[in-house]
This record gives sequence, C-alpha cells and structure tokens, in this order.
Amino acid sequence: MHVRYIEIAGGKPLRGRITIQGSKNAVLPILTSCLLGEGICQIDNCPRISDVTVTLRLLEAAGCKVIQEGRTVWIDTSDVCRSRIPSEEASHIRSSVLFLGALIGRCRQASLPMPGGCAIGIRPVDLHMKALTALGVRFEGEDDLTADGNMLHGADIHFSYPSVGATENSILAAVLAPGRTRITGAAREPEIMELCRFLRLRGADIRNDGQGTIVIDGVSSLKPAYYRMQADRIVTGTYLIAAAAAGGDVQIANFPTYGLELPLQILKETGARIEQKEESCRVISSQSPKAIPYLETAPYPGFPTDLQSPMLALLAGAEGVSCVRETIFENRFRVVSELRKMGADIEVQGDRVIIKGKEKLTGSQVDTPDLRGGAALVTAGLCASGLTRIGQIEYIERGYEDICRDLRMLGGDLVVAEGQ
Ligand code: UD1
Repeated sequence: MHVRYIEIAGGKPLRGRITIQGSKNAVLPILTSCLLGEGICQIDNCPRISDVTVTLRLLEAAGCKVIQEGRTVWIDTSDVCRSRIPSEEASHIRSSVLFLGALIGRCRQASLPMPGGCAIGIRPVDLHMKALTALGVRFEGEDDLTADGNMLHGADIHFSYPSVGATENSILAAVLAPGRTRITGAAREPEIMELCRFLRLRGADIRNDGQGTIVIDGVSSLKPAYYRMQADRIVTGTYLIAAAAAGGDVQIANFPTYGLELPLQILKETGARIEQKEESCRVISSQSPKAIPYLETAPYPGFPTDLQSPMLALLAGAEGVSCVRETIFENRFRVVSELRKMGADIEVQGDRVIIKGKEKLTGSQVDTPDLRGGAALVTAGLCASGLTRIGQIEYIERGYEDICRDLRMLGGDLVVAEGQ
C-alpha cells in the first residue's frame, strides 16, 4: 500500500522568521456563515487545509458556487436551495455541525448527519440542540440532525458550559431570527469574536462583550462582504512551542493580536525569552526547558486544549517533573503512547499525565493519533536525536497547511516522503 509520512532528522535548533497561515477554527464558521444571505463573499488568507476543502464541498452541496484561487475564496450564495447536507462528506469534520445553524437561518430547515472529526472525545451535540430548541427549532428523528426552523425566534440562551461550536451555532441561527437573542455563558474564544466581526460587516446586529454575553437583534437579511482571516493562533502556538523545545530564535511576523496570552506566559516559565512587539513575537530559547509543575487546559482565556499535545512534547524533554491536566476532551492523551516510543517518560493518570523530563528523546517510528497529537510528534521529532518517521499525516493536514515547509524555513530538517 502507498503511504505518506513525515521524516525528521532531529536535533537542529529553529531559527528565522515566519508568517502564519489563516486561522482554521475561525475560517470554518465564517465560510459556513456565508450561507446566511445572498451575493458573493470574498474570504482572503483562507488556509489551504483539508478541513476547508471539505467545508467548501459542503457549501457546494447546499447550492453555493465556490471559486478558490490560492488562499482567496469566493462564495456565491445566491442559489442556496438544498438544506440537506450529504452524510459522506459531512461526517469527516466536526464543524459540519455549524451547517445546522446556518441552514436554519437561511432556509428555516436543515438535515445533516451527526458530525465527525478527530477522535479526541465523545463530543456530543446536546448543547447545540438545547440552544437551537430555545430559538424555536424543532428536531425530528434521532439518528441525524433534521431540524425545522419555521418558528425561529430570538430567545434567552444560557450555556452551562461555554461550548465553542454551540455558541457559534446559536449565533448563526440568531442573526436572522426575529427578535432579540441574549446568550450568556457563551464561549469567549477569539474565533467567536472573529465570526461576530464578519457578521457585523454583513449587517448583523451583534454585540459581544468578550466576557460571555452576546446580544443579537435579528435582521431580515445580510449583505455580502470581504474578509481577511487573521493568523491561526494554534499554529502560531505550535511553532513557538517547537522553538522553545528545540532551542533557537524564531520570529512570528504576523502574531495574532490576542489569544495566546497564557501560552506565552507558560513558555516564559519554561525558560524561553519572549519579545512581543505590536505585530510580531520572537521566542529565544538557549538552554533546555524547565518543567511546569502543574498546567491545566481550560476554555479561553485558559490554556488551549489544542496546544496541550505540543506542550507534552516540550515537557517530555524538560528538566524536572511536570503535570498536565486535560479538562476539555477526555481522549486527548492518545499521543502519549507514541511519545513513549520516542523514549518519553509519561504516565497517564485519569485526566492528567505525569511527565518526567528526559534530556533527549530518540527518533522512532510513530503514528499520528489526531490533528494536534500530530503536531506534538513533529515537535518531538525536531528535538529527538536521530530519525523520526510519522505516519497517518492526513490528520495533520486537516489543520496545518504544510508543517514541513514552515519548519524547514526555520531550519528544521523534515520532509513528506512516500513509500510502501
Ligand atoms: C472547538 C475547536 C477545537 C477546540 C475546541 C475547544 C473548531 C472547529 N474546533 O471545538 O479545535 O479544541 O473548540 O477549544 O473550532 N460539549 C458537550 N456538548 C455539546 C458541545 C460540546 O458536552 O453540545 C463538550 C465537548 O464534548 C467537549 C467540550 O464541550 O468536551 C468542548 O467542546 P466545544 O467547545 O464545543 O468544542 P468544539 O466546538 O467541538
């Protein structure tokens, strides 16, 4: 069988300056939200990743015309006619669930399969359904998400947990719902702010205080708009962590305005020097990193769960004992067994791991368990002595345009190779 893998010759420090791709977690809801209104939206700096490709196919399935040239995408939503999203494609990505809110807003009905995505947890959709039900949506059937939104109206929604996706779905359904919607306990992630900014450009009436309260007054239609995606904070964070782990001096040219406050502070605690200017950020790391006695993931502004796996790779080579607790997804330690193959001393204890830092990891043959786990293995491979070969790299391509190209620009020795 023909397989692709990433091969890394580890042990080289990272040096140089890099511009980061547009944000995956911001672009997926923004592309989906184009459905809410007629005309042609133009999205620039759209990352060339497979999750975007799938989302564009789903938009086409709904009747949109899509043109993609490099990192620019035009979406013509004039003829949206189908509210049924095909199972085969939709089940590949978790964010397909956002078609629920967008199609209800546009067509007052939606039918799509239960969402797929990385196997990092059970990932139920109860919060999405509860919020949409409050907005007057009726769900039919149990095996898929078939919903009738003919009675759509503004309402008060309170989230007992600040789910990113459920907050986005509520916003998508509420912008064209008659009346006022007030969401409390909403997710505060920067990607939510970016979705609100895009929808406001299109004429939506949304106030988001960034503290968990979002007030939306429904409007009757939205106009098309141009939008340029900001840099991806998780890709940025991954490369900063990789530089801190492998040593070196890396500058991010287009540092995202906010969203990485806590990860930067944690990197400083590992001993890295961080120099932040208005639009750029530089990480300088010379000595081997120090352990972090305790770190836990949490919704924004807490430590992002998406950077937890890359952090494990850094801490596996740090001096001392670290403890990392995952509070968001119950299955996010699948990369641990792969890191162990590289000599890492990590023990899983329920929702936390204990990491006894080793001076050097050893290159090995490993498999990507999920998107961010893959980024962790690349980070580990850059630090390890000898050759690392990483399989199942399709997971990495869901979120990183070209991780090898990027890290090669910084002096890393890694390529995508093909073999049997
Ligand atoms: C989004 C991000 C993902 C990130 C995550 C948390 C995108 C495309 N994905 O995922 O990269 O890791 O936020 O920052 O933006 N939950 C429920 N019921 C629900 C919805 C969620 O129990 O109806 C639970 C989930 O199982 C999980 C937690 O809430 O344990 C967080 O999920 P959520 O914030 O919804 O994450 P996603 O939107 O799936």
